[in-house]
Amino acid sequence: MNRRSFLELTATAGALTLINSLEGWASVSPNKKIRAAIIGCGSVSNRYIPHLQSSDKIEIVSLCDIKLERAESQNKTYKVGAKTYRHIDEMLDGVPFDMMVTLTDMQNHGELNRKALLAGKHVWSEKPLANTYKEGKALVDLAKSKKLRIWGAPAVVNSPQFAFMSRLIQEGKLGRISSAHGQYGHTGPTWSAFFYEKGGGSMPDLGVYNMTTLTGLLGPARSIMAMTSIVNPERTVDDKGKIKVEAEDNAHLLLEHDKGVISHIMCGFNYFDPHGHEAENQTLHSIQIYGDYGNIRLIGYDWETNGVMVDTSWDKPPVLMSKDKGGYVWQEGATKTAESLLSNTEPLINVEHSLHVLEIIEAARKSSATGKKIKLKSTFPWPVIK
Ligand SMILES: NC(=O)c1ccc[n+]([C@@H]2O[C@H](COP(=O)([O-])OP(=O)(O)OC[C@H]3O[C@@H](n4cnc5c(N)ncnc54)[C@H](O)[C@@H]3O)[C@@H](O)[C@H]2O)c1
Repeated sequence: MNRRSFLELTATAGALTLINSLEGWASVSPNKKIRAAIIGCGSVSNRYIPHLQSSDKIEIVSLCDIKLERAESQNKTYKVGAKTYRHIDEMLDGVPFDMMVTLTDMQNHGELNRKALLAGKHVWSEKPLANTYKEGKALVDLAKSKKLRIWGAPAVVNSPQFAFMSRLIQEGKLGRISSAHGQYGHTGPTWSAFFYEKGGGSMPDLGVYNMTTLTGLLGPARSIMAMTSIVNPERTVDDKGKIKVEAEDNAHLLLEHDKGVISHIMCGFNYFDPHGHEAENQTLHSIQIYGDYGNIRLIGYDWETNGVMVDTSWDKPPVLMSKDKGGYVWQEGATKTAESLLSNTEPLINVEHSLHVLEIIEAARKSSATGKKIKLKSTFPWPVIK
């Protein structure tokens, strides 16, 4: 059996497992809404809560934060009407719910996600879904054994621009693909220390978007070489004042895909970017793909896409195509996966893909520390867009 058939078979098997597990679940709970419980009521919850509320198929029933006042304040600000908790154990023993949405410090994701799965809850996790590939794989195995689902951010494969780029590549419109580049950085979050502590870093916070996009477009990476560094050894952040930076704030990765394709990703917390997160009117590109018939550039970011510049002519200027966002927003992952639980459909976001990206992040650190090329063992159903 060749790799393609194997991947198709495993993808089908995955879909069947999903349908079997969801049929059982749906028959227990017919015509219901997904009851969501959010853990972590900090910065990103301001984007998640309204988006989850915009779906008539989802009800937020619980909000939890170790800083309880944050859960209470978000409950009030967004008129959620949820129960509020200080600790995950209280929340798991409290109002029943179907899916936990994990929005805490990234270092806590793995342990919190494990507790939720053990308690029989589906999980959507902000990135990364665990601290290590091993921990992430154990979560996915646990979910499968309990006929539950777990998914991890980001949601970049959902954008129409991702689909457009993927089709151009798959249909050979760019010719033979050889190289790609992705970049994402800014001057770093100012509110929380965890971004700079061990287990944080610019790769799981920022590089993860380009890693998902480029592996999603070009296929799983087979090996990696990387250099990471700490450029700014001290930071002042809102929650802890002056701190020592322990995780990389600067990273360059070289990924080897099949058929000789090589991609490069750079990400960091020391990039001057006057556009910051105001990405709506961004006209610069963040992703480039090179083939021998054509090149494409994703305008804006992969998390906020503004179109794809297509360059396929020797004598005509490049054309900005696929400008319609089709409603895609980066914070939609929890909403879309929750809705997929109800509709018994398989979302484009795939947890094996998140695990692959997690392995890349870990291997990049190892490559940088040892100066060696690191082979990757994980893969995921590809192409993402069929
Ligand atoms: N802020 C953004 O714009 C943004 C965008 C995309 C993704 N993310 C991701 O979202 C996650 C959270 O980021 P943030 O910026 O919202 O951080 P934040 O510091 O603003 O919020 C994190 C919250 O989690 C709470 N928390 C920590 N441990 C907890 C635990 N064990 N139980 C309950 N609550 C706990 C903290 O008290 C805090 O209120 C990170 O993984 C980050 O990478 C953030």
